[in-house]
Amino acid sequence: MKWEDVLGRAREALKGICNLCPICDMKACASRVPGIGGIGTGSSAKNNYEALRSLRFKMKTLHDVTEPDINVELFGQKLAMPVIGAAVAGAAINFKDRMNEVDLAKAQVFGALEAGTIAMIGDGPGDLYDKTIEALKGAGKGIAIIKPRKLDEMIRRIRMAEEAGAVAVGVDVDAAGLVNMRRSGEYVGPLSLGALRKICESTKLPVIIKGIMTEEEAVMASDAGAGAIVVSNHGGRVLDDLPGTISVLPGIASKVKGRSILLADGGVRSGSDVLKFIACGADAVLVGRPVVWGAFGGGKEGVRLLYEKLADELRIAMILTSCPSIKEVSMSILQS
Ligand SMILES: Cc1cc2nc3c(=O)[nH]c(=O)nc-3n(C[C@H](O)[C@H](O)[C@H](O)COP(=O)(O)O)c2cc1C
Repeated sequence: MKWEDVLGRAREALKGICNLCPICDMKACASRVPGIGGIGTGSSAKNNYEALRSLRFKMKTLHDVTEPDINVELFGQKLAMPVIGAAVAGAAINFKDRMNEVDLAKAQVFGALEAGTIAMIGDGPGDLYDKTIEALKGAGKGIAIIKPRKLDEMIRRIRMAEEAGAVAVGVDVDAAGLVNMRRSGEYVGPLSLGALRKICESTKLPVIIKGIMTEEEAVMASDAGAGAIVVSNHGGRVLDDLPGTISVLPGIASKVKGRSILLADGGVRSGSDVLKFIACGADAVLVGRPVVWGAFGGGKEGVRLLYEKLADELRIAMILTSCPSIKEVSMSILQS
């Protein structure tokens, strides 16, 4: 199977949910939350796309970089590329039950592992977390991202993740007002600094704070003990009119890079998008919606093909910008 075949099959399987537009600029899916799109006018998701487009590379071709090294080590894991699967859950509400939650999560975690990387699993209303944990347990390796629930409940879910073989756990703090949680009557809300500290102290695993968009809160999370921060606006699904994530990343990197692992997501669709995020300070990126295309178009194999495509494109982009390794990527590859 080729990635193009996966896309063709996903287009059929996701009819009426995602058009798989040739250019994923988040316009056709504006206001499709629940669904696959961005909330409200869709501006936050569109801003992710546009901020990425606004950055330009400096192309370099007179050098001897022919085999760039794209390996990274994060959370004690050697990863074949600086790309991790974002948590994308809620198959019933977002994908009209066309794939069950366990199968979707299994495609995410196994597809990532087979490509030499790792994936996050998500949390949600009802028994959703039991299902995504089941997939994690089967794979024995992954990252569990828990909703910002009451402290006791978050810690109970962290224990479940530890038992399932998670290499890190996290909280998507930007889900503090999430539509599907509110509709189901389950509590989510902002995380106090005290609660954040207790979460970090409650486990030996690195704790990831996902959904940070300001320098101030990145420093707060890092000071409270977060092992990693994800600069993210939840794919533009939680609040309208947020900036594109890559535009706030350099400022955040200037404050916390080297203190906590810095991850970022929002609009990554190609290897050159990955390279831009790394240039702006990320240690690795998360990829969200394309994993859904992979899963619907080809199960775990479709997901593996997505990662392989991103890795190939990243290597080419690194050759054309003269970057020998991920560590050596810097802002200097971008036009000022
Ligand atoms: C349908 C859907 C469901 C998602 N579910 C979760 C989730 O359960 N937990 C979470 O932390 N993020 C969730 N996200 C956000 C992703 O993890 C990620 O931040 C975002 O999709 C990245 O942007 P991208 O899709 O443009 O790559 C979801 C995103 C989508 C599109």
